[in-house]
Amino acid sequence: MSTTAAQPAVDHEYVLGTNEAELERLGLQHRLWGAQAYALWERAGFRPGCTVLDIGCGPGFATFDLAALVGSAGRVIAVDSSKRFLDHVRAQCAARGVGNVELLAADVGRLELPARSLDGAYARWVLCFVPDPAAVLRAVAHALRPGAALAVQDYFDYASLTLAPRSPVFARIVDAVNRSWRAHGGDPDVVGRLPQLFAECGLELRELRPHLRVARPHEPLWQWPATFFRNFVPAMVREGFLTAQDQADFESDWAERARDPNSFFVAPPVYDVLAVKPR
Ligand SMILES: C[S@@+](CC[C@H](N)C(=O)[O-])C[C@H]1O[C@@H](n2cnc3c(N)ncnc32)[C@H](O)[C@@H]1O
Repeated sequence: MSTTAAQPAVDHEYVLGTNEAELERLGLQHRLWGAQAYALWERAGFRPGCTVLDIGCGPGFATFDLAALVGSAGRVIAVDSSKRFLDHVRAQCAARGVGNVELLAADVGRLELPARSLDGAYARWVLCFVPDPAAVLRAVAHALRPGAALAVQDYFDYASLTLAPRSPVFARIVDAVNRSWRAHGGDPDVVGRLPQLFAECGLELRELRPHLRVARPHEPLWQWPATFFRNFVPAMVREGFLTAQDQADFESDWAERARDPNSFFVAPPVYDVLAVKPR
């Protein structure tokens, strides 16, 4: 493992924060979405010996699985702007004896990567948080070898996230999430812009495939929204996107739904997106 500080990391932290609770939430999220990630990596052609860029790697939950996939003959370059998350990845590399992960502290909107240096790249739930996804894609397109793929997992139609039966207070919370991410420069519908952005940087769109998932209160996937709202609703109150009364209404409604076996949660559509650099 090595660390490169190519440019100073951005001085703002991403909208969901990088505290212990967010680190744990990202771990749970990876366990709930790991199968979908593996399947996409396989279709992207990631395999032993490849050099793969993990864009916005966070605490590295996907990074370590990618490192195992590419093996000792391959390499994962894990880039993030959060020093705290990169410190976690570094400590985990040491604890697990992982030697094929290279850390890069950088703003993914300002990457400078050598031309034709990557056999693949992966971006999960990061393009929806960056103000200029086109800049990320330009740098990645430049760095991919001809024939190599960029695999993305991210949102479109985030506002379709809902509870059944419908809940007016839940709809207010979803609207606040949307406004808060946009105020921080993100776009919870970013996948809708990707085909055009790929065309502009010379990448060919090969696949656009949505996952529509639902969860009942007793199912593991229910913990995905539960942890997200537990962490993020108080932050949205602090930032003025919700009132304390909204929070109280939401918490009581959510607790009631969690006890109701006839209730279910409809996740926002996560899209698998594959784009290839032409040969
Ligand atoms: C939701 S987390 C996803 C982490 C990881 N990709 C995963 O799927 O587990 C978003 C990550 O993007 C990083 N991030 C957001 N904006 C960034 C930027 N402009 N430059 C670098 N990293 C950024 C955050 O620090 C955070 O680690």
